[in-house]
Amino acid sequence: MAVGDIYRALHARSLKDREGFWLEQAAAIDWYRRPDRALDDNAPPFYRWFPGGELNTCHNALDRHVDAGHGDRLALIYDSPVTGTKRRYTYREFRDATAELAGAIAALGVGKGDRVIIYMPMIPEAAMAMLACARLGAVHSVVFGGFAAKELVSRIDDCAPKLVLAASCGIEPGRIVEYKPLLDQALELAKHKPAHCLILQRPQGPATMVDGRDLDWATFVPGKPHAACVPVQATDPLYILYTSGTTGQPKGVVRDNGGYCVALHWSMKNLYGIAPGEVWWTASDVGWVVGHSYIVYGPLIYGATSILYEGKPVGTPDAGAFWRVIAEHKAVALFTAPTAFRAIKKEDPEGKLLKQHDLSNFRTLFLAGERGDPPTIEWAQRLLGVPVIDHWWQTETGWVICGNFVGLELMPVKPGSTSVPAPGWDIQVLDAAGRPVPAGEIGAIVGKLPMPPGTFPTLWNADDRFRQAYLAEFPGYYKTGDAGFIDADGYVSVMTRVDDVINVAGHRLSTGQMEEVLASHDAVAECAVIGVADDLKGQVPLGFLVLKAGVERPHGEIVADVVRMVRERIGPVAFFKTAVVVGRLPKTRSGKILRGTMQKIADSQAYTTPATIDDPVVLGEIGEALKPAGYARK
Ligand code: COA
Ligand code: AMP
Repeated sequence: MAVGDIYRALHARSLKDREGFWLEQAAAIDWYRRPDRALDDNAPPFYRWFPGGELNTCHNALDRHVDAGHGDRLALIYDSPVTGTKRRYTYREFRDATAELAGAIAALGVGKGDRVIIYMPMIPEAAMAMLACARLGAVHSVVFGGFAAKELVSRIDDCAPKLVLAASCGIEPGRIVEYKPLLDQALELAKHKPAHCLILQRPQGPATMVDGRDLDWATFVPGKPHAACVPVQATDPLYILYTSGTTGQPKGVVRDNGGYCVALHWSMKNLYGIAPGEVWWTASDVGWVVGHSYIVYGPLIYGATSILYEGKPVGTPDAGAFWRVIAEHKAVALFTAPTAFRAIKKEDPEGKLLKQHDLSNFRTLFLAGERGDPPTIEWAQRLLGVPVIDHWWQTETGWVICGNFVGLELMPVKPGSTSVPAPGWDIQVLDAAGRPVPAGEIGAIVGKLPMPPGTFPTLWNADDRFRQAYLAEFPGYYKTGDAGFIDADGYVSVMTRVDDVINVAGHRLSTGQMEEVLASHDAVAECAVIGVADDLKGQVPLGFLVLKAGVERPHGEIVADVVRMVRERIGPVAFFKTAVVVGRLPKTRSGKILRGTMQKIADSQAYTTPATIDDPVVLGEIGEALKPAGYARK
């Protein structure tokens, strides 16, 4: 057999014999009632997986391993260089702590279908909180700690939670991020008022409590009767995870229980090549989809040991932090974003710190979250001497769209490519008219419907937005929003977004949302935000401001205002640090701002003047305005 034959046979079967393939994979998890079918395709373009099936995702992640005699196996290793703490939980300990927490939140009236916001940093209680909701059939929505209060407001008002689970603070190198004042402010502004907040007080930054609303985790939770797992439909929602759209209103990506459990279980063995009981590490955050799927649900559903790391790749304490964690806990694989490796490479280009650690158990590095640039991938390959697998993901899809399925068979690694489609994905590249383009040509990357299990069935309370945003442009296909090409071997390269989403240090952000903030400044007549290339973060946002006539304030002050406003309204994670004031913006004759051309100018790339441009002279003006800020140098 040739290399790739195993994968190709499996992938072909997943499309031709969808029922057989996925029902077979579904047998690997525990069901209270087995599904009648794999796919419910009665109401296209809405598809549901495993109709009739009843299960509980928390049972699959915790109880069933204890029931199978693996209660003493490690479920979670918490390693926190920012607090100098390490804690280990066996499956039994983690199950018991989760059941107790579920008992506590049930005592607050939370049950099946109720929403719960989780606003917590990278601590074990965050994972417990997610699983406790799953245990009760409640729907959690985790909010990343680097967002501002306003982001919390839009999520609270959209999903109307009964309860908020929060920690008093997060810890960033050099500063404590006080979560509680942000939460208080958000609850003040939100139209929906959850009845209670259960607050985990951290000694690094204890919070002031609001009488009657806030409850102290440390006194409220202990001793509560353990809650049992509640059976839910496979198609019931497990969580909502908000992600950047084209406007300030984030999209509530819905994840179901059944399809997700089955897909994650399949992926741990076949994509990541992990065996139950092995130590797996995803260096991401529970606030992102990667954290949901591969810090919490995937490894635990599979019975592996998951490392939950509260720290950074550099600075906690140095660029050897990742090697220390891998060696100390004997991790066999690491999953992180390329930006983390660029940060390590910048500080320790020769990898000297690696030599201090024994990585003999380490087998594979997985990268995702942004384009894996070939120099970083090749550097990591040379340094670690193991396969470096770039794979392509989205919040919407819940797990990989394309990857190299090392547990099935390692296919050749082509730096710059995300390898081949996951089972159930029929990936195609189309031109603007919806026609397939030849191999090697760039176009819109789409997936033929239905998408595989684990992907999002819809957006929370927004079926129409789901249809409009993802399914309308190419009928019969899911529009990924990414552009790229498929080569003659069927390998998919993802090059760029086609919308105004940018990727800053592996964090997905909306330039449209930043523009809304800039436009609200009283001196700003017009604005644009683009993503410009950055050696460390991949992309960073850059603003352009056209001021109202008669504004006499110094430009530096106005720029400082908008930088502060983005930090306050979206959050530090937006990493909006610079804007330039320009006389006018380049536009087409119909008034569309030429953001793509502006980006090329800023990045000193060759560009062609669009035929539809209103006045080509503006492009030269933009270039001149950018030079003092260090852009458009060539
Ligand atoms: N809570 C509060 N603030 C946060 C935060 C959190 N959880 N995460 C980041 N921030 C803040 C940072 O402190 C920083 O603030 P500053 O401007 O005041 O310094 C800002 O948001 C930008 O953060 P980031 O872009 O992450 O930069 P950084 O310098 O802190 O770290 C990296 C750079 C490369 C180490 C870091 O971005 C990283 O590890 N990225 C990996 C991303 C990832 O895991 N993505 C998930 C997909 S796999
Ligand atoms: P998120 O929803 O935050 O996971 O971000 C998803 C987006 O990140 C995708 O639509 C891509 O634009 C980008 N992305 C994720 N993984 C990759 C990858 N391996 N290569 C290129 N782009 C990627």
